[in-house]
Amino acid sequence: MPQPTKLLVIETSPRGDASVSRNMTRRFVQEWRSAHADGKVVERDLMQTGLQFTNAAWLQAYFTPPAQHTAAMADALSLSDELVAELLAADDIVIATPVYNYNVPALLKAWIDHIVRKGLTLGFDGAGLVHGKKATVLIASGGVYTEGSPIRERDIATQYLRLILGVIGITDVTFIAGGGAKMVDLGEDTMEGFVEKMEQDIRRAASV
Ligand SMILES: Cc1cc2nc3c(=O)[nH]c(=O)nc-3n(C[C@H](O)[C@H](O)[C@H](O)COP(=O)(O)O)c2cc1C
Repeated sequence: MPQPTKLLVIETSPRGDASVSRNMTRRFVQEWRSAHADGKVVERDLMQTGLQFTNAAWLQAYFTPPAQHTAAMADALSLSDELVAELLAADDIVIATPVYNYNVPALLKAWIDHIVRKGLTLGFDGAGLVHGKKATVLIASGGVYTEGSPIRERDIATQYLRLILGVIGITDVTFIAGGGAKMVDLGEDTMEGFVEKMEQDIRRAASV
């Protein structure tokens, strides 16, 4: 039996319903479900994952061949293993993120540090091992960084995510920039109105 198409949703914002990136995701998932009637959505909310930054125990386990892992080493890598398996099982991936200090929040960087794994997602020769997947990145930022912006060169979050996804082999990536999200916080736009402006781009990305 053919497996249903799977969408992995990575959420990062701590702001719940007030989060612009989460509202962008909500719209994306609605569109994705209508385009993939039998699709399965797996949500990975990094605010609920208990992700630790990589520490000495984690690194020791990472640099020890799996056949020599102690129970403690296997334990240190278990969440990372789970996150990698989740990524590899997905056909489509959507990553929703705020911009913090011109880059991705530390929590998303921590997820990246857990899923870039030599031998699993990155070959020992440096070639990416994650193939045949399509990713969409939904970015909410207070400022505007798109083409023509005087602060375009500060769009480190987009550049970084494009780079790191490409490093592990995910090259089919669409970025949807929710720039100027501070309008929502300032009450100068509604959440619905703000997300609506990206509707076409979101639908297009969710439908292919
Ligand atoms: C700690 C912090 C740092 C931020 N840094 C930036 C920044 O460097 N550039 C920017 O455009 N917006 C910045 N913002 C604004 C957020 O990107 C904006 O509020 C966005 O809507 C957050 O995403 P969310 O609504 O999904 O939580 C920052 C917000 C916070 C709380």
